[in-house]
Amino acid sequence: MDNAAKMSLNGQEFELPVVVGTENEIGLDISRFRGESGAITLDSGYANTGSCLSSICFIDGEKGILRYRGYPIEQLAQRATFSEVSYLLMNGELPTATENAQFRDGLTYHSMLHEDMKKFFEGFRHTSHPMAILSAMISTMSTYYPEVEEDDIERNIIRLMAKAKTVAAFAYKKSIGHPFVYPKNELSYSANFLHMMFSVPTESYDVDPILEDALNVLLILHADHEQNCSTSTVRMVGSSGANLYASVAAGVSALWGPLHGGANQKVIEMLEQIRDDEGDLQKYVDRAKDKDDPFRLFGFGHRVYKNFDPRATILREQCKKVLDRLGVDDPLLGIAQQLEKIALEDEYFVKRNLYPNVDFYSGIIYRAMGIPTKMFTVMFALGRLPGWIAHWKELREDPKGRINRPRQIYTGYQERDYVPLAER
Ligand code: ACO
Repeated sequence: MDNAAKMSLNGQEFELPVVVGTENEIGLDISRFRGESGAITLDSGYANTGSCLSSICFIDGEKGILRYRGYPIEQLAQRATFSEVSYLLMNGELPTATENAQFRDGLTYHSMLHEDMKKFFEGFRHTSHPMAILSAMISTMSTYYPEVEEDDIERNIIRLMAKAKTVAAFAYKKSIGHPFVYPKNELSYSANFLHMMFSVPTESYDVDPILEDALNVLLILHADHEQNCSTSTVRMVGSSGANLYASVAAGVSALWGPLHGGANQKVIEMLEQIRDDEGDLQKYVDRAKDKDDPFRLFGFGHRVYKNFDPRATILREQCKKVLDRLGVDDPLLGIAQQLEKIALEDEYFVKRNLYPNVDFYSGIIYRAMGIPTKMFTVMFALGRLPGWIAHWKELREDPKGRINRPRQIYTGYQERDYVPLAER
């Protein structure tokens, strides 16, 4: 083999083919290693394991680079719309003007939910977490729009993208006991969502272009992030041949956790906790550093970015714009700014490269926009949808695609005999 790495085990040597990506990322192909050697590779948390070849998103965590289909995130956030970026992720190329208009129309005209689907909302408790509602309703869509013919897939992709924002806004309206507000076709994706969230039958909400723009940027920044926990979950579920809705509903559940998308909610809860504790910031920084205390500073650190998170840099600016525009005077924002300063100068955080991540600033912007804390992770999910769908499609279209099925090293009992109940 020309391009192979060597591994030796118990005196025997094995060759592992080397796979090189377009950005010169190097992977060792161990897919045949177990068959040849009887051993597996162990990598808990998959921190150093590539699960697939993918052409959707490139990240260089050391250099703080993030690109969708080759386009730098900075350019997309500054100049593109969320609908263009969604098209790009799912189809591989930026849309032409005609494709863009058709795609936008699709996202608009499929926004309404089947009237029968509204009945499900009656069954949810008013205190339900909107992530539970989002996941359940996405799964439910498979009962209304089954995948029977091949071209149902493209239609269902548009339906999912278009209807998810309506489900999200309805979940919020349900939680505050207000009537649902239907989408308006003349509005952009972001403006339509804000309208459904904040309009009431007695008064239409005028969408501020600065907030519409900020939401557009937030959605773009969240749109994909290669093999993160929720995307890998979508791919894992999709690898069994499960339909789009079932796979994406699983992704929503994975995103909900506080170590992933749920961190934006946790950031605000943490800031509230600090505020209620008389703003004693140092105490919380010390707790985060204490190995015997499970407390972590939410919104700090990232599995991949070890220098800076390019999305956080963009959002920091956006955050300032929104706060200036709204003239928000919120003590939590002051606490956030002080916390950022302390943590960035503290040796513990500096040594471990723990910087504010995208969730740190997104939570602050959402709060200033009037979006309730419980909805923050739903906002993340709306942004991540095109990424999940793009990965589901890529996997589905891969002729060499296999069901995902990792191995394990068993650490339990060796064989033992069953003891009848009476003898135990
Ligand atoms: N506060 C305090 N210490 C931290 C934090 C934090 N937020 N994050 C990491 N550390 C410490 C760890 O204790 C560990 O210290 P050690 O080397 O002395 O043991 C070291 O930094 C490395 O941390 P790991 O947990 O090994 O890093 P990992 O890559 O597994 O985790 C994660 C990354 C989950 C994001 C982690 O930094 C974290 O829990 N952050 C808070 C939650 C958060 O903000 N999540 C959002 C991530 S971004 C996103 O999903 C879009």
